[in-house]
Amino acid sequence: MLDLIVKGGTVVTASETFKADIGVEGEKISYIAAAGKLDYLVNKNADKGNITKVVDAQGRYVMPGLIEPHMHVMAPFNNTIDILDFYTASICAAFGGVTTFMDFSTTTKEVPVLQAVEERKAEMADSVLDYSVHAKFINAGDSREDLQGTVKKLVEDGIPTFKMFTIYPGVMINDADILKIMKAAKEEGALCGFHAESNAIADFMKQNLLDEGKQDWEFFNKAKPNACEAEAVNRILTFSELLDVPVYFYHLSTKEAVEMVRQAKKRGVKVLAETCGHYLMLTDEKNKGEDGINYLMSPPLRSEEDRIAMWEGLKDGTLSLVTSDNEVFSRKIKEQNLKEDALTNGKIPDFSVPVNGIPGLEERFGLLMIGVNHGIISLNKLVEVSSTNPAKVFGCYPEKGTLEVGSDADIIVVDPERTVPLVRGNLHYPADLDYDFYEGFTSRGWPVCTIRRGEILIEDGRFKGKRKSGRFLKCSLKPRKEA
Ligand code: URP
Ligand code: ZN
Ligand code: ZN
Repeated sequence: MLDLIVKGGTVVTASETFKADIGVEGEKISYIAAAGKLDYLVNKNADKGNITKVVDAQGRYVMPGLIEPHMHVMAPFNNTIDILDFYTASICAAFGGVTTFMDFSTTTKEVPVLQAVEERKAEMADSVLDYSVHAKFINAGDSREDLQGTVKKLVEDGIPTFKMFTIYPGVMINDADILKIMKAAKEEGALCGFHAESNAIADFMKQNLLDEGKQDWEFFNKAKPNACEAEAVNRILTFSELLDVPVYFYHLSTKEAVEMVRQAKKRGVKVLAETCGHYLMLTDEKNKGEDGINYLMSPPLRSEEDRIAMWEGLKDGTLSLVTSDNEVFSRKIKEQNLKEDALTNGKIPDFSVPVNGIPGLEERFGLLMIGVNHGIISLNKLVEVSSTNPAKVFGCYPEKGTLEVGSDADIIVVDPERTVPLVRGNLHYPADLDYDFYEGFTSRGWPVCTIRRGEILIEDGRFKGKRKSGRFLKCSLKPRKEA
């Protein structure tokens, strides 16, 4: 029985734009038909006394729900924690057109990766959106057999995507262990992803700056120059080429790294990479002055030249995804950390103390739409980098990330004329968020209806989702149906 019909809209996928009505039965898309062609089914339902929910999409775009594969929620950082949980994150995300999100296990020395993944899954069960987890590795364990077993189990459990940090004592993994995990990942069909920044460069630069008395947080970016990212990206690409193992880069921010990925792809290296909304829209000018502390994230904001290189990378396919790297801290929390350090250590607070992390989960569609509004990318490209490619890269395509018969009915309806300044009054972050990260940016075009597996989450400006209605998504990188 047809439960829902999205009627009269212009369907936009990563590759096509066409007028169609979309019919939904239960959780799945069951029909995609020329306008009006499904009316007989609606009428048949009515004759039997059943109501088909009609979502009017006249004059609107109908797109696959966005997938956010890179965010941090309930993620401890420097003895503090961000202000979202998976329910409040679901609300923000759904208003921003997201229907699936993915987070990371909080693996530590005390909590090994398999346990950390289970703990994160349990926390994410509070979600309204469908969800999956990336496994964070901080070492390769004690034996080759154990590692192989762990990787195999993760893949079997639907968690074939990993993250490793080449920076930050505590979570940082050494190069020898990276190679071991890459080898095991290749054998078991998993994908290794990297937070690629050089710990040695960042440490060295930091110490030099502190020695020179440059300890204000405005020097945060100077401790992580472009070379800090480029060196780590180069190293991982070398490993990937050596072992012929696919790799993924989270949050690329520099023109050098994008160029390395571009050249590596040309040589046949199996590399995929993302950038984030903030590297497309903002530069390190934002770090100057009184409010600069609000704009601290890792990797840091870069120059205008780097910003342009991100758009170029997206346009020529060097970069496949745009993610948010959302980890929301209030300014109060950021400043509190500075003050606490001064109190407990009696030191003048240095730039490494403020927590880094920024909002973006709800704004991502709007940021990309600004790119569309300026004629930089097409609507199809928007869908590709925010929905279809995340599904393909992280192993849930074509269940997610497309509008096809048989796919999950994860659908957004976008009003192309709705203008939304990206400020707190229009967004749904908790009241603790005390600054506007994207002040001055206005999207023309905004999701007005968000449907997750056939269930309407956002309609008429209201959130209708139910806590814990999201479902764990078992991902797989084994070849499935191609588009
Ligand atoms: O500053 C950032 N990006 N915080 C989130 C953690 C990460 O490294 O992705
Ligand atoms: Zn990272
Ligand atoms: Zn991140």
